[in-house]
Amino acid sequence: MLTIQDIYAGYDKAVVLHGISLDIHPNEVVALVGPNGAGKSTTIRCITGEIKPVKGDIRFCGNSILPLSPDKIVPLGISCSPEGRNIFGNLTVFENLRMGGFLVRDKNVLKERIDWIFNLFPRLKERHKQLAESLSGGEQQMLAIGRALMSGPRLLLLDEPSLGIAPVIVDSIYEKITEISQQGTSVLVVEQNVGLALEIAQRAYVMESGKIHHSGMSADLLNDRYILDTYLGVK
Ligand SMILES: Nc1ncnc2c1ncn2[C@@H]1O[C@H](COP(=O)(O)OP(=O)(O)OP(=O)(O)O)[C@@H](O)[C@H]1O
Ligand SMILES: [Mg+2]
Repeated sequence: MLTIQDIYAGYDKAVVLHGISLDIHPNEVVALVGPNGAGKSTTIRCITGEIKPVKGDIRFCGNSILPLSPDKIVPLGISCSPEGRNIFGNLTVFENLRMGGFLVRDKNVLKERIDWIFNLFPRLKERHKQLAESLSGGEQQMLAIGRALMSGPRLLLLDEPSLGIAPVIVDSIYEKITEISQQGTSVLVVEQNVGLALEIAQRAYVMESGKIHHSGMSADLLNDRYILDTYLGVK
């Protein structure tokens, strides 16, 4: 579904991704894990079109998306809940969701999507008139995911959905991520909380210093003492 082929990318003259290759198949949850500064968010930004690789290719459903700007990539079925959430604090929950669905013209589809998201995250329904800035961290994360779902993606990119959120809320958000994938959306989840990501992902890529150091089935990575100690800091 998504194939990243040997991309090199970075900022100004600093290349931070040195030949990343990665695949995501339909209906899969894939984790991208690794330490601070490894290049996880940069990889996500390459998929959304925010950063253009200097070398390599990114293909979605068979076609290269490299020439496309971010606003042309969303309608193909890729959407992202970015690191730091990036929601509009001075707009209501409902208005934020509405913005995520700005490309949806059909009112019935729009209503179905909002119902779907309110069903996944009942707290958003209860608080739909509330300003986003007044939500708790966990609720803001639910809103960021909900907003990304409004475009009806086939591939959902989640950059650190657990960051700064109480563990009990993290667990419930992760349950929802599994539910979203079971309903037919592939998910690429970036996490520093490695144990958590490997629990829900079928496969994972371990990234360090702009390269993929290991990849495989999550279950195998979780049983690999060397990988856990060396890359993941899980004791
Ligand atoms: N906007 C930017 N301009 C210049 N350099 C950047 C920018 N964003 C990230 N970098 C650099 O690129 C490298 C990879 O950063 P990136 O944000 O992709 O890492 P990450 O794996 O997402 O880390 P974290 O887990 O801390 O979010 C780092 O060395 C970082 O300093
Ligand atoms: Mg990051």
